[in-house]
Amino acid sequence: MSQIIVINFGSQIAHLINRRIRELGVYSELVMYNISAEKIKKLNPAGIILSGGPTSVYDKNSPQIDKKILKLNIPILGICYGLQLIGKHYGKVLPGKLKEYGKKQISIKKNGILLQNLKEQEQVWMSHGDLVKSLPKDFEILAKTDTCPIAAMENRNKKLYGLQFHPEVIHTPKGMQILKNFVFDICKAKKDWNIGNLPNKLIQEIKDTVGDKAVIMGASGGVDSTVAATLIHKAIGRKLHCVFIDHGMIRKSEAKSVMNRFKKLNFKNLYFVDASKIFLKRLENVSDPEKKRKIIGHTFIEVFEKKEKQLEKKFPNIKFLGQGTIYPDRIESAQPSKQASKIKSHHNVTLPQKMKLKVLEPLKELYKDEVRELGEKLKLPKQIVYRHPFPGPGLAIRILGKVTNERLEILKEADAIFMEELKKADYYDKVWQALAALFPIKTVGVKGDARTYEYIISLRAVTSKDAMTADWSRLPDWLLEKISSRILNEVKGVNRVVYDISQKPPATIEYE
Ligand code: XMP
Repeated sequence: MSQIIVINFGSQIAHLINRRIRELGVYSELVMYNISAEKIKKLNPAGIILSGGPTSVYDKNSPQIDKKILKLNIPILGICYGLQLIGKHYGKVLPGKLKEYGKKQISIKKNGILLQNLKEQEQVWMSHGDLVKSLPKDFEILAKTDTCPIAAMENRNKKLYGLQFHPEVIHTPKGMQILKNFVFDICKAKKDWNIGNLPNKLIQEIKDTVGDKAVIMGASGGVDSTVAATLIHKAIGRKLHCVFIDHGMIRKSEAKSVMNRFKKLNFKNLYFVDASKIFLKRLENVSDPEKKRKIIGHTFIEVFEKKEKQLEKKFPNIKFLGQGTIYPDRIESAQPSKQASKIKSHHNVTLPQKMKLKVLEPLKELYKDEVRELGEKLKLPKQIVYRHPFPGPGLAIRILGKVTNERLEILKEADAIFMEELKKADYYDKVWQALAALFPIKTVGVKGDARTYEYIISLRAVTSKDAMTADWSRLPDWLLEKISSRILNEVKGVNRVVYDISQKPPATIEYE
């Protein structure tokens, strides 16, 4: 299979380059800037892309490239910072007089192969401070802007290409064409990345890896873990042991419906662990969001380990731990900017290695929408494939402050009404994620003739592509009215419903 390697120099959008290449039907991997030339040689890619980055190539701590990579005779495309790395190596880079952000016009002097099928003037997206000022020896300028003398350059002999602008963003309308030119006409990559061919390949890989051993897996009922479990199940059948841990903070009737779904999918070794009491006990009087997340994470591991030990006694051939890890979970930890501030201790609990199990992650190369496509290919029900994301800590991070039984019951009811009405109105699939949250403050209201003093429920629905950014969904007012009135009438303990109109950033999707 052909592949392109994208080397990440700290750009927030390097993963977009990776996505675009896959959209072109070519497999692409994002790797850290400190990858060695030897490692790249082993991967044998058809081409390499050097991403942008937030620093100047002259900053003391700026990420540098193993120079031998530039001499591997593999086609290289440097984008922004990537171009400046090539420029620094072969010529001169100067701090740009102006920091340029946003839309610019390029004038194309020569199309070469990189800019073939582009007109003389094209719109591009710039975001940079430094410029390659003097043309490196043996390079040719392909395009410029009024402020940037080298907006695109090439050295065909050395197979080095550079763009000062970002072809991966939609604000560069011909960006896909440029990437296509690079991937197919310069790198000669083959279009052979196709989700349709994946199930058999992944199932065979699982069979080869697991052999006659067995696999244990925590299944939450979410898309990723269900697709992963289905692949493993197809590969090894009864040798897959699935454990569902109910931590008490899942949606109303969720435990039952998840167990039923797995049964319908013919999973035989299913175990249900009701651990809600332990979780609630440990969360008593804890209101700090990070503390809540940590307690839930640690308790989850503890409960899972206990069950695993029990099962291992009965089935000593359990040697693998199946996980629904997907590509973005992994690339998040491949971000070079170590100083990036931690916003939330996020994402799926990585179960500890001390269990001495080997980790099996069949989806580790895939993006969420690729996982969904795979789920469709595996003929999983639509309600699983298109289920909204639901965070590991569940409703605990949607009850602001202390989690109590009373608050949980209120939120479960309100959330169930919200989901039911969204589905009935055909809006569930139009939003990326929807949730209800409980504010732990009470406000005064009136029901009948009596004064009430009760909680606020906040409804949040967002559109997004990958949860990195999000916008609030413009739900119709008749629908909001219906949901609000049902919650106010049917859920005891709530006398006010609000709709959240915050974008991410600055807000996040979840409340804690
Ligand atoms: P935020 O709140 O950071 O959330 O905008 C982005 C996406 O991640 C989900 N999320 C989690 N998923 N474990 C998960 O598996 C977690 O701890 C977790 N926290 C947030 C969130 O629902 C949204 O889709």
